Amino acid sequence: MTKTMITGVQPSGNFTLGNYIGAIKNFVKLQKEHNSFIFIADLHGLTSYQKPEDIKNRILDLAALYLACGVDPNYTNFFVQSDVNEHGTLGFLIAFQCRVGELSRMTQYKSKKEKQGKEGIDLGLLIYPTLMAADILLYDAEVVPVGMDQKQHIEMTRDLGERFNKRYGSTFKLPDYYIPEVGAKIMNLQNPTEKMSKSAPIDDKGTIFILDDINITKKKIMSAVTDNDNKIYFDEENKPGISNLISIYSAITNKTIKEVEGMFVDQNYGTLKKEIASELERFILPIQERYNNYRYSDNLYKILNKGAKEAEKYASKKLLEVREKLGIKY
Ligand code: TYM
Repeated sequence: MTKTMITGVQPSGNFTLGNYIGAIKNFVKLQKEHNSFIFIADLHGLTSYQKPEDIKNRILDLAALYLACGVDPNYTNFFVQSDVNEHGTLGFLIAFQCRVGELSRMTQYKSKKEKQGKEGIDLGLLIYPTLMAADILLYDAEVVPVGMDQKQHIEMTRDLGERFNKRYGSTFKLPDYYIPEVGAKIMNLQNPTEKMSKSAPIDDKGTIFILDDINITKKKIMSAVTDNDNKIYFDEENKPGISNLISIYSAITNKTIKEVEGMFVDQNYGTLKKEIASELERFILPIQERYNNYRYSDNLYKILNKGAKEAEKYASKKLLEVREKLGIKY
């Protein structure tokens, strides 16, 4: 039977090369073989304050960008999370079954707590994984393409789904993460032991934003931090900068790490960087062109509306089943 696949991206910050390689690339590759859903996680975006006008624009930017990256609405139900009310409702019901201890062990919460102490953290950040669980369980999704940083959330989704099934009888399918072999964690080019993050400022030299001017992107690649050894091979521990560059090259050219190592065995770092810069140009420019065509077209709204209606058909059925199981549908 065809499996259901789902993934989402928050409309906060700017879409990075890491977001593309970690999740969207795989989604696009697999969308035709699955019953596919992809959404803009605008409710998740509310866990940290952003100006409402900025959120609105980012939702549309991201929608146009998804389509430009190859999300095909003929095969995929493509929508905005808050357009389908069932996400919020199921998120609330799932939160009731979740333990504070489980939530406070999540990396995102823990690292914020270490930085600023728990008193000042919004509840949204703590309960965020329960909404994410609802996003997935609502559609009985079994395949969830994500980057490494989301693995913990998918594991928690399984736990919460299983807990519900045990208490109330089989209701949800349990998902598996689909994490790419290469590029599950693209690192910051200036600080290759830290994740490339979309909350980085636009002038961050270590972060590649897909919609940025291509000349700036090329400069960022050319100034990426490496090491003094001048030998090109993959070793994340001892050569994090070079390994990150190899991962990027491998992901955008669909070559294996071994193939890339073979190609550059007698080359210097400058040659590797130049090759990556020109491959990125080849890869990014058509995306930017398609993005510009979608961004201000009425078609964008039509696609999102249609996607939300389709998604709602599944979501409302599932929520009804959940309410019946809980005894709150008389
Ligand atoms: P978000 O918006 O932070 O990131 C979107 C996707 O990009 C991946 N990613 C990366 N992959 C590789 N290298 C990186 N440097 C990198 N940075 C980000 C993330 O792992 C993610 O797959 N909670 C999610 C959104 C979400 C979701 C869901 C995803 C909400 N509900 C249900 C899947 C299913 C998030 O904040 O992703």
